[in-house]
Amino acid sequence: MEFAPFALEQWLSDWEQTVDYNFSESGVHPVVLKELLEMAGESADNLLDTPLNYPEVNGDTLLRERIAALYEDASPERILVTVGASEANFLLANTLLDPGDELAVMRPTYMQIEGAARNRGVAVREFGLDEARDWALDIDSLNAAVTPNTKVIAVVNPNNPSGKILDEAEMDAIVAAADRVGAWIIADEVYAGAERERNDQAPSFQGRHENVIAVNGLSKAYGLPGLRLGWIVAPAPLIQDLWRRHEFTTISTTMLGNRLGEIALRPAVRSQLIQRTRRLIRDGFSTLEEMLAVHPGVFSVVPPMASALSFVRYDLPIGSSDLVHRLRGEKSVFVIPGDCFGVDHHLRISSALPDDYLRGGLTRVNDLVGDILAGR
Ligand SMILES: Cc1ncc(COP(=O)(O)O)c(C=O)c1O
Repeated sequence: MEFAPFALEQWLSDWEQTVDYNFSESGVHPVVLKELLEMAGESADNLLDTPLNYPEVNGDTLLRERIAALYEDASPERILVTVGASEANFLLANTLLDPGDELAVMRPTYMQIEGAARNRGVAVREFGLDEARDWALDIDSLNAAVTPNTKVIAVVNPNNPSGKILDEAEMDAIVAAADRVGAWIIADEVYAGAERERNDQAPSFQGRHENVIAVNGLSKAYGLPGLRLGWIVAPAPLIQDLWRRHEFTTISTTMLGNRLGEIALRPAVRSQLIQRTRRLIRDGFSTLEEMLAVHPGVFSVVPPMASALSFVRYDLPIGSSDLVHRLRGEKSVFVIPGDCFGVDHHLRISSALPDDYLRGGLTRVNDLVGDILAGR
């Protein structure tokens, strides 16, 4: 079978470091190490004594205790610490799915589990979030996509790219579909904590069914992607199976990552990080909305309920990959084309960034729109 690359991440690797304005990242403007230590009242000197050894292969106990405390019924034995949520998703796709199995996935979504599964010969069925109904879950399409052969239902909630948070009835429908056929639910919840419209955290799937696996990490809601720290919460026997694969992929995360991750998840630090994230997300989206209104009728967006991301529809006679290449080449601005999510005539724009940077780049986006409208 021919290997298919991860299109979204390939766009990022190729272009994100080459432009004046990068709006392609899915997290918020990252935290500086000094800022994190200040939030915790920790001196840098304490960190200088860290032995640069391997940490515990499944994640340091204290860190796993902090992670377990975030869930209602988790314990350190039910947690595996991974190199980002991306290692978590990759391990899960390779542990739970075999060639010939079926995977049901949300569309649009971050397509990592789907891509890794397709590369293993897994059949993929899609169910939808409906943009016309503010990205409501299409429950009929969910029920059609989940068959007796479905091994896993994979959801990203809050969703990348739409920012949709599933409501209780939608979560119940997913749990019922999994229950009907005995499937696992993999819930990638990396944007929980990054709510834009509310101050309570988007609820986890964890605890709603025995077959739930929750994935999370410090890259998005915490603004710490450079720590490369993620985790999986799952039943203890499955954690053992995942751990055996983790020994093949990365062996472990890093000692410094574990130490800093533990600091970030101390309740008093965590709440400061979450507040910072929400502030950036809220301010950034207001600026984005204002700037998208400069050319009336061109852009429209369902305001994201969470995340730094907006999945913006545009009405211009150009496909999304071509539009992104023009933006990059002519204006040195980079956003993600909707094509990466299988949805053309959309752009995924990240806006939880410093205001002058955001305005500078969006002015260039509007300049290009002016050129296109003028037939140039
Ligand atoms: C939904 C989702 N899951 C996982 C990841 C990977 O994140 P990381 O490996 O940095 O934790 C991303 C990154 O964009 C994402 O959007």
